[in-house]
Amino acid sequence: MSDEEIPFLTPGSQHARKLSRESNGIKTWWFHQFYHPGRSSRLVLMGLTAVAAITFLSWTIFGGKSKRTVLQPPSSCDHVSRGYQCQPDISHYWGQYSAYFQVPSEISPDVPAGCQITYSQVLSRHGGRDPTPGKTALYAQTIEKIKSNVHVFQGAYAFLTDYNYTLGADQLTAFGERQMVNSGTDFFTRYKNLATASIPFVRASGQQRVIDSAEKFNQGFHQAKLAAGESKDAQYPYDVLIISEDAGSNNTLDHGLCTAFEIDGHKARHATQRTFASTFIPGITARLNNALPNANITEPETIFLMDLCPFETVASSSGTPSPFCALFSQPEWEQYDYYQTIGKYYSFGPGNALGPTQGTGFVNELVARLTGKPVDDHTSVNQTLDSSPDTFPLGQTLYADFGHDNDMIAAFFALGLYNSTPILSTTHLMTAEEMKGFSCAWTVPFAARAFFEKMQCQGVEEEMVRVIVNGRVVPLESCGADQMGSCTLSKFVESLSFARGGGRWDQCFIDTQQGGELVNGGAMSDGGVRETS
Ligand SMILES: *[C@@H]1O[C@H](CO)[C@@H](O)[C@H](O)[C@H]1NC(C)=O
Ligand SMILES: *[C@@H]1O[C@H](CO)[C@@H](O)[C@H](O)[C@H]1NC(C)=O
Ligand SMILES: *[C@@H]1O[C@H](CO)[C@@H](O)[C@H](O)[C@H]1NC(C)=O
Ligand SMILES: *[C@@H]1O[C@H](CO)[C@@H](O)[C@H](O)[C@H]1NC(C)=O
Repeated sequence: MSDEEIPFLTPGSQHARKLSRESNGIKTWWFHQFYHPGRSSRLVLMGLTAVAAITFLSWTIFGGKSKRTVLQPPSSCDHVSRGYQCQPDISHYWGQYSAYFQVPSEISPDVPAGCQITYSQVLSRHGGRDPTPGKTALYAQTIEKIKSNVHVFQGAYAFLTDYNYTLGADQLTAFGERQMVNSGTDFFTRYKNLATASIPFVRASGQQRVIDSAEKFNQGFHQAKLAAGESKDAQYPYDVLIISEDAGSNNTLDHGLCTAFEIDGHKARHATQRTFASTFIPGITARLNNALPNANITEPETIFLMDLCPFETVASSSGTPSPFCALFSQPEWEQYDYYQTIGKYYSFGPGNALGPTQGTGFVNELVARLTGKPVDDHTSVNQTLDSSPDTFPLGQTLYADFGHDNDMIAAFFALGLYNSTPILSTTHLMTAEEMKGFSCAWTVPFAARAFFEKMQCQGVEEEMVRVIVNGRVVPLESCGADQMGSCTLSKFVESLSFARGGGRWDQCFIDTQQGGELVNGGAMSDGGVRETS
């Protein structure tokens, strides 16, 4: 889940808070629907806030295009294995709103000579989506304000003359669906030796776009399997185990149980993002107001206008870069990317004392799967699910888990993948290289995929473990990575003492703030304060 609150004490964010209070007051609308027919049918509760529902209704009534159309042909911007490649000098700097692209790797991600993959697990983010409900309302308002204050748009702004805000809320877009189909195909292709003989065991966190992403991934996997000469696959459509995101649910793919984190978890993020924003946003705001006299655009609204570049891009079925993108320079996109990156680092990374702890449940499940031993965890694992071979089978060769960016970041830090990343400056931009590969765009773009692999290599008795995040081999430094970036399984597991010990889970329930308000009970999107990402 993601806190999508705007870290500014300005009219924009006051409005965001007001919206969220209102939508907490109006009880959540619940959509009950049976999702996955077949053996593992289960009831999925989809929560939409009033804001989302209203947005959705107006979008439906006033003729917004349905996003649930037939898949478009593959777009030239998005490539099955290399991902999004249009205007990479800016599109690879859209933070967590970037579309997956293959990240440069110092170590070749190819299977090393003399080694064979024996196991792989993918941890994936859902594909491109519409903005979260609170954000979509704020974006609509920003556009409405500009259009009512300004009547002549020229130059790079001319497109605004005919532009109307029509984005929905929360759902996977057609482009996002295509990304996930591509991801399934890419997974099949990489693990063909294992994948022709078996199918992945698939789990999805219970928000609709995540479930949809898992199913699109399965579709791509299946298509590739048929294309590779398998005549039929009676198991398709493959089962997807859905893990609820409701308040109080134990879900290793979606945080929400750690009370102290949910209450206080985002303070450092707001302060650090505000500090960094003050280094570049005022200049852009002045330029916008100069080009659009009388627009009276605020600093948060400047960030909203930047957000619209990636959101309008992934709302285009072909992924064509939006004209909003051209309103900002390449260095400004680098700053935007860094602004988003520090937001994640100071909430789900080591910039927050309880950040990486949110990833420990997933890590302990990974250890169980890698070693073939029962899960040993006392954090967010659901013991009922993980003690049953139907819902947590061991001994499979392929697994696929689908969730959100924030939980992936917490898992990456709980694994120690970015232990050599220096503490992120809040005043000076650092490049992804300087951050040792940690940037939002490099780690958790839409349709992000981290592969956890086991390999059997010639002349080595023990299996080796390697981790590849969006095509980049992340050298396992905490267990003494070899030239391939890998460690033996036992050294790798040994290095995970933080997660095996439950991180700082014991600090989740100490009485932190008297009168602290548990926003949204750690549950679903609420129209502005905590929204899944
Ligand atoms: C935006 O809305 C206006 C007013 O309803 C309409 O005239 C215009 O054609 C719309 N633009 C687009 C691109 O649909
Ligand atoms: C654990 O999973 C079971 C089976 O899906 C479910 O009924 C139960 O509510 C879950 N418990 C928690 C605490 O998440
Ligand atoms: C500009 O917006 C601010 C608040 O966002 C408001 O106080 C001010 O009156 C506005 N100015 C004009 C000229 O509309
Ligand atoms: C859910 O997690 C809590 C906190 O770690 C734990 O006390 C509880 O036993 C778990 N419930 C299940 C069903 O696993």
